[in-house]
Amino acid sequence: MGDTVVVVTGAAGRIGTYLRRVDGGLPARGWELVLVDTADPGEAHAAIDIGDDGALDALTDAMAGAVAVVHLAAIPHEDTWDALRRTNIDGTYRVLEAARRAGVRRAVLASSCHAVGFYPTGSVAPTDRPVRPDTLYGVSKAALEALGSLYADRHGLEVVSLRIGSCVDRPLSAFDLGIWLSPGDAVRLVDAALRGPVSGPTVVYGISANTRGWWDLTGARALGYAPQDDAEQFAGDVTEYTGPSLLGGDMAAS
Ligand SMILES: NC(=O)c1ccc[n+]([C@@H]2O[C@H](COP(=O)([O-])OP(=O)(O)OC[C@H]3O[C@@H](n4cnc5c(N)ncnc54)[C@H](O)[C@@H]3O)[C@@H](O)[C@H]2O)c1
Repeated sequence: MGDTVVVVTGAAGRIGTYLRRVDGGLPARGWELVLVDTADPGEAHAAIDIGDDGALDALTDAMAGAVAVVHLAAIPHEDTWDALRRTNIDGTYRVLEAARRAGVRRAVLASSCHAVGFYPTGSVAPTDRPVRPDTLYGVSKAALEALGSLYADRHGLEVVSLRIGSCVDRPLSAFDLGIWLSPGDAVRLVDAALRGPVSGPTVVYGISANTRGWWDLTGARALGYAPQDDAEQFAGDVTEYTGPSLLGGDMAAS
């Protein structure tokens, strides 16, 4: 274990799989991954349910000797308050507390535009504006950012919260043409968040270099993120967008 060991929670999921596999993923960038998930990622992993009361000790053990944690494990959509609180809020607390106990230096947290989903489109909320969640899921991501802020300020953990756009294989709707984060750029973004200069709690937006992109990438670029993909190549093959003119898109209206 050493300066290259990174724990990835939610490693079996969509983004976790991108981080392990796309263009060699984080391992090709020099990181040794310790995988955590309730699901089987198909390789060695710690089967830990971060929503369990007893998970703190197991998470602390998994983080022993790690330099950073990339926290992806979550319910990634709207759900009941009890379910979201258990996994997304209590679980994030346990991940950060385990990181503190294990002496981990940096935490990269998967946040979402849904923490600020009721801001209008076209004028992405600066990260120093108050959160404006569009769903209970969005509230859980606002709580994740708040927990990250607490652990940065109180405990000196380097915390980077990533407000991730639509991170899927390819954009599906016209809305996605603005907010797509390609699998390759997801790897570049997380790699930058693991390495970049951080001072105090840090929240950045993360999308690809989309021709129609309107999110502010200043913060992510300051970390060293250099996106290479553009959703525009799929423009002829996406569905029309008829949802509200809100940052949270369809989810803000459902
Ligand atoms: N994909 C996107 O477009 C997108 C956009 C914004 C934010 N995010 C956030 O990024 C993260 C990853 O998203 P994803 O698309 O890969 O989701 P996903 O559902 O594919 O992966 C989530 C993983 O977390 C695991 N998990 C869920 N509950 C768990 C628990 N209690 N304990 C341990 N593991 C648990 C699941 O088994 C799964 O493998 C999530 O936090 C999500 O909210 C994703």
